[in-house]
Amino acid sequence: SLLVPSLQELAKEPITKVPEQYIRPNLDTQTDTTSLPQVPIIDLSKLVSGDLDELERLDHACKEWGFFQLINHGVNPSLVESLKRSVLEFLNLPMEEKKQFWNTPEDFEGFGHYLFDEQKMDWIDPFTIYTLPLHIRNPRLFNSFPHPLRINMENYSLEMEKLCITIIKHMTIALKIKQNEVLELFENLCQAMKWNYYPPCPQPENVIGLDSHSDVGGLTIILQANETEGLQLKKDGKWIPVKPISNAFDIILGDTLEIITNGIYRSVEHRAAVNSKKERISIATFHRSQNNKVIGPTPSLVTAERPASFKQIVAGDYYKIYFSRKPQEKQCLDVMR
Ligand code: SIN
Ligand code: FE2
Repeated sequence: SLLVPSLQELAKEPITKVPEQYIRPNLDTQTDTTSLPQVPIIDLSKLVSGDLDELERLDHACKEWGFFQLINHGVNPSLVESLKRSVLEFLNLPMEEKKQFWNTPEDFEGFGHYLFDEQKMDWIDPFTIYTLPLHIRNPRLFNSFPHPLRINMENYSLEMEKLCITIIKHMTIALKIKQNEVLELFENLCQAMKWNYYPPCPQPENVIGLDSHSDVGGLTIILQANETEGLQLKKDGKWIPVKPISNAFDIILGDTLEIITNGIYRSVEHRAAVNSKKERISIATFHRSQNNKVIGPTPSLVTAERPASFKQIVAGDYYKIYFSRKPQEKQCLDVMR
């Protein structure tokens, strides 16, 4: 695998043609603009106050979409705003200052990514960092962050963990199962953040920001950091664009949740499109079970009418399979059936 150079630097020069490795001649960029189904919006304050209609809507969103936009989530808006501001400032630091944050072959965290597919590249500069459990934090990165960014990340990290647990708790209520059966799999969970920078792209019809995939873990919480549209979901064979809602989070269900719920809830295939005029920045926070937890369909969701759809597996083994899959093997979950 190869380390990818900074796209943000490349895109600083006015370019009219993108390098060959980014071109995907057969990209399916048709998004159906007629009769688009409405992406589900869930109001957390209603769930918390016991609103049964909202619980029903959550259940429906998790079954049919594996995705929803979350409003009235209770996370302090000034924390969210200052995190956004400090991430944007960080991404816009001069290259000289960002150099120390570049990743290395031994150390996956930081700026840059490795190519799974040396032929085809995504139009993205990601910055990846592990944030929980506390002891996995990388001092090389954490100690070098500008002060407000570090404080904001630490606070945001805790808020996202709390929010993740709250959402999963309401899922167990909707599924009418014992909370602890599922929640214990997310005790001392692993959390990572990825800051995705997508520069404007002169050939958006043939370039993808992030190719189609489902997430490996439990819940991913996405904060659209600058109102540029780009996230798309696959629903009934069509790509549906997600319009950013201010003060909301986009919630993505990952493979682990599909496995645990015995396929009642689903993980969603998604991707990020690019556009020719505006850069796009998103802040993703991933939550997954510790490597040593055993994941499989939770016993109370396995019945005579609904036998187990997935095998049991040690979580860390599933992550290994997921991260070493070939680019054409998008549906990693199939190995679990
Ligand atoms: C992701 O799938 O990790 C990010 C999607 C986005 O940029 O919205
Ligand atoms: Fe994703």
